[in-house]
Amino acid sequence: MGTDSFRVTGGARDFATPSGTVTAFRGLDLTVTRGEAHALLGPSGCGKSTLLRIIAGLDDLSDGSLDVPRHPDGRPDAGIVFQDAHLLPWLTVRDNVALGLRYRANAHVDDTEVERLLGILGLTDLRSARPAELSGGQAQRVAIARTVVTAPPLLLLDEPFAALDPLTRRGLQDWLRGVRDLLDVTIVLVTHDVDEALHLGDRVSLLRGGHRGIVDTWDTRQLHRDAGQLSQVRQAVLDRYAADTDLDPLDTLATAVAG
Ligand SMILES: Nc1ncnc2c1ncn2[C@@H]1O[C@H](COP(=O)(O)OP(=O)(O)O)[C@@H](O)[C@H]1O
Ligand SMILES: [Mg+2]
Repeated sequence: MGTDSFRVTGGARDFATPSGTVTAFRGLDLTVTRGEAHALLGPSGCGKSTLLRIIAGLDDLSDGSLDVPRHPDGRPDAGIVFQDAHLLPWLTVRDNVALGLRYRANAHVDDTEVERLLGILGLTDLRSARPAELSGGQAQRVAIARTVVTAPPLLLLDEPFAALDPLTRRGLQDWLRGVRDLLDVTIVLVTHDVDEALHLGDRVSLLRGGHRGIVDTWDTRQLHRDAGQLSQVRQAVLDRYAADTDLDPLDTLATAVAG
């Protein structure tokens, strides 16, 4: 795969439901390069979570192919973090993070590695706290730590900051940028927040779902990230968001067939 982290080619996912077939997306092509932070943006229901679950091996494409590094047993070598931290309430922060290692094949917990990671992620002071004592932002940091402790080459984040207040959210975005600079990891961040996507993504893709797949991608790496340039890209993304809110003929047809 050369410099690619993973690649989806002609990806489609249909769900059979009692009221007919629901197409999450069709004809989806996405290549993410190693070390990149790729933000996946799109309105609710366009298939962002479905795509992430497929890349993580929690679901399968109905059609098309996924090329991703895999464990010997065939599972994709990727870690996924959701909007809710799902920490075990009776374990300390340190033990919740170490838990990530227990699920690996050899189940070996390297204490030095856990402590090193807690340090890098700014969690050392919280190591003995229980989840009930943590703020939402702290809990999300622990959830991300629990996943990156296994050193997955690919980190998939499904709206990890969506439930947080704007200030905490911005703090966590900056924290994630720092984490990403310290760890050798490729990130796919799902969000419906244009500013979050531009703040964290080297590239930003807009997913429209249905038969449209990914409709546009912006590369922000060449930008100086000054306010003027960022606001131009921001406007371009918002314009694209608004440009095709109407169903295209294929979607109308699919809805008619499904209904
Ligand atoms: N298990 C499922 N069964 C039926 N339909 C599903 C299932 N999972 C997702 N969908 C449908 O697929 C579409 C995309 O969902 P999802 O990936 O959750 O979107 P997003 O994360 O962008 O909000 C939606 O129309 C949703 O209802
Ligand atoms: Mg979702």
